[in-house]
Amino acid sequence: MSPPASRAHWSTRLAFILAAAGSAVGLGNIWKFPYITGMNGGGAFVAVYLVCIAAVGLPIFIAELYIGQKAQANVVRAFEATHRPGSPWRFVGWMGLLSAILILSFYSVVGGWVLDFVYRSLTNQFAGHSDEEIKGVLGTLFSSPGRQLFWHALFMGGTVAIVLQGLKEGLERWNRILMPALFVLLLLLLGRALFLPGIGKALTFLFVPDASRLTAAGVLEAVGHSFFTLSLGMGAIITYGSYLGSREALTRTALSVAALDTLIALTAGTVIFSVVFTYGLDAGSGPTLMFQTLPMLFARLPGGYLVSLAFFLLVTFAALTSAISLLEVMVTYWVEQHGKPRKQTALVLGALVYGMGILSALSTNLLAHVKLLGHTFFDLADKTTSSLTLPLGGALISIFFGWVLGPQAAEEVVGPRFKWAARPLMWTARVLAPLAVAVVLVRGLREW
Ligand code: TRP
Repeated sequence: MSPPASRAHWSTRLAFILAAAGSAVGLGNIWKFPYITGMNGGGAFVAVYLVCIAAVGLPIFIAELYIGQKAQANVVRAFEATHRPGSPWRFVGWMGLLSAILILSFYSVVGGWVLDFVYRSLTNQFAGHSDEEIKGVLGTLFSSPGRQLFWHALFMGGTVAIVLQGLKEGLERWNRILMPALFVLLLLLLGRALFLPGIGKALTFLFVPDASRLTAAGVLEAVGHSFFTLSLGMGAIITYGSYLGSREALTRTALSVAALDTLIALTAGTVIFSVVFTYGLDAGSGPTLMFQTLPMLFARLPGGYLVSLAFFLLVTFAALTSAISLLEVMVTYWVEQHGKPRKQTALVLGALVYGMGILSALSTNLLAHVKLLGHTFFDLADKTTSSLTLPLGGALISIFFGWVLGPQAAEEVVGPRFKWAARPLMWTARVLAPLAVAVVLVRGLREW
């Protein structure tokens, strides 16, 4: 076991914040949030999601950062280092590793879809084409196993290549420019969307809650997504926190990442639904939503070729910085715990995840009829993590922080200036967050 001093650390505070934000902001914001919002009836779902981010996600984000920073160790050892050797809490770390493998296996498939759309943008397959043609693009990808596997391999290869280079060179460089660029591009698209005739309906759909459209399964999905989108519940943030030297920035980092992440999701949602309601599309069309709506907008924009290319490239990078964090959790664990060389570990794990991801990549064609518990492999990997292992992991991390680390941890984390916040934070972690998750899990899983 290496002493903390020999571990790599973020070069600056900004590098750390950008990396944490890079992990959080990804396909979850731009692809998943809009489509699950559409499938769950809009406003009421968004309201639950927002409450979850603030009341459950934020405290758990702080708890994960604290645990990682204090432990200076990988997900599994972090629990032993902050509790005691052999602590049963290390089970939470193992569950985190399982979540990481499952999430990355389907995440890299969707990353592949985005790459296909980079290629389609490059070869000008959107501008000047009819809406029907544009809507059919994803279908041709879905029905081709070879095409799916090719892009999936490319995305996974890119992720491994970056993680191979190690922490400093690998992560920091990418985040600095590309994330702000994505945000700016989204704001420009929002500017255009505000002048679409469907904008009014889109805003009503997103921000006026209609409780009658919400189901228990929908609430579970909102809770699960608040974990997914902030990269919580499986130790990604613990791992990133473990590369942090000093403690001061934890609460502020959590706040800014959560705010940025939410802002990006809501912006993407507004743009996508304004297209949906302008062109009479189906809000509940599912995982294809982003891929069918935005190209229709790009096709009508002056300079749409470039906008489309820039957009899908930037989404690729946003997805990569998230995928990196998922792989990094596993690599950090195997390197530290089993003394394996970093390069070899990244390659082996990348290959393993790719292999598992094949099942998801083929879920739209060859394996579309293979259902486990009523779901394709793709849906199963998504659902078991978002609706089960992430919320469960998050609740356990919260309990660990609140009860095992207790008042002292809460006080350290908020610092002397915000001492008053220590008790509310501790009780949120002890009771509120775990209870909310437990209630939702029990009710939601019954419908699932
Ligand atoms: N948060 C990322 C997104 O929204 C996905 C992600 C990266 C993630 N790391 C994670 C999700 C860890 C859960 C846990 O796209």
